[in-house]
Amino acid sequence: MSPIYPSPMHDFGYDVADYKGIEPVFGSLDDFDSLVAAAKQRGLDVLLDLVPCHTSIEHPWFREHPDWYIWADAPNNWLSAFGGSAWSHLNGRWYLHSFYPEQPDLDWRNPEVVAAMQDVLRFWLERGVAGYRVDAIDRLLKDAQLRDDPPASEAFGLPLSGEEAELSLAHSRNAPDTGRALAKIREAVGDHFMVGEVYLPAARWQPYLDAFDAVFAFELLHADWDAETLRRAIEATTRQPGAAWALSNHDFGRLVTRFGAENARAAAMLLLTLPGTAFLYQGDEIGQADGPGGERRYDRAGRDRFRHPMQWTGGRGGGFTSGEPWLPLVDPEHVNVEAQRDDPGSMLTLTRELIRLRRSLPADLRLLDTAPGVLAYARGEYVVALNTTGRALPVPRGAELVLETEPAALSRDELTAHAGAISCN
Ligand code: GLC
Repeated sequence: MSPIYPSPMHDFGYDVADYKGIEPVFGSLDDFDSLVAAAKQRGLDVLLDLVPCHTSIEHPWFREHPDWYIWADAPNNWLSAFGGSAWSHLNGRWYLHSFYPEQPDLDWRNPEVVAAMQDVLRFWLERGVAGYRVDAIDRLLKDAQLRDDPPASEAFGLPLSGEEAELSLAHSRNAPDTGRALAKIREAVGDHFMVGEVYLPAARWQPYLDAFDAVFAFELLHADWDAETLRRAIEATTRQPGAAWALSNHDFGRLVTRFGAENARAAAMLLLTLPGTAFLYQGDEIGQADGPGGERRYDRAGRDRFRHPMQWTGGRGGGFTSGEPWLPLVDPEHVNVEAQRDDPGSMLTLTRELIRLRRSLPADLRLLDTAPGVLAYARGEYVVALNTTGRALPVPRGAELVLETEPAALSRDELTAHAGAISCN
């Protein structure tokens, strides 16, 4: 779950005002306990989104413990992820905010901050959560001397905003002693699952993988639907185990909108057949599209398009709410869970079959040589082939057909346009 803590909601709850409560808009701690219990009864675990790098400017810590935050007499050249300087002026000093000014950065070199956050981590584990998605973790520690980021001498390896791309970002994130802070997070979390949101290319994952179970593979998340690009991203992110896969989330568009409705099923097949943990964004299992977004004053980075409610039923409110949702439903009358649940040809049925099948896929992955436009890989005796083009193409395949994105997609050795197929030897 994205953050559910009390928050003034300047950043969708990623501005936390109390790490040990529930935002009243969502319910109470009792509701949370019931949710965790109900999930457990169904064999589901709940992961929370932990936001350790910054608090809300309205968190009492900011008033009561200003020394838990990062201050300077004058700003350096570090940039906020949302554009402009990462520094804001307050009472004659400047505080650091790697994101919005309403999100001051905590100082993880202060042992009191570490202890306070360890306490938070233990709090939710005691309430039964199974682990954490750890937010923006490459921003946990930055240069202690607050030196300027030098000009960029090589490409960062992942998309950046124009002004960010001009700098090396060597000092404003991912400091050499990050591993020490990550170890403190691991210490509090014990054996529970942790996936890190690390906005770095896979070649720089090591300290994060030492402490976490998995790290999101942004190379793949940012790849276009093109076999060669996807192949390069998979190659780069599978040199070591630990990649967590996401093709969409609350920050980036949904499968149908990003890759086109014609490719959404093959994209789901890709997401759910790679080795390691996959994160399927709510709505993608039914092929929900992005929506119109919200009012700019509440959605300063233009991401509400990806955040419209889940569509359970065709009625008003889409089974999501009987009230007035914050963002409108997009098209529940056309796309909803109820209509797809028992339809053997639906995206939901395909998603369920993929989830069932992925349990039997062996751990190894071997990329296969293919015709241009085809991405194919072996998982043990299984062969996954995806045609990213608009024309039928020859593909490698195993003797027996296991699953295809639509009926008759795979003939003897050809896959129809935009389709995917899993076969087995
Ligand atoms: C992460 C979240 C994003 C948020 C940012 C700051 O990137 O996914 O939604 O704005 O961190 O917390």
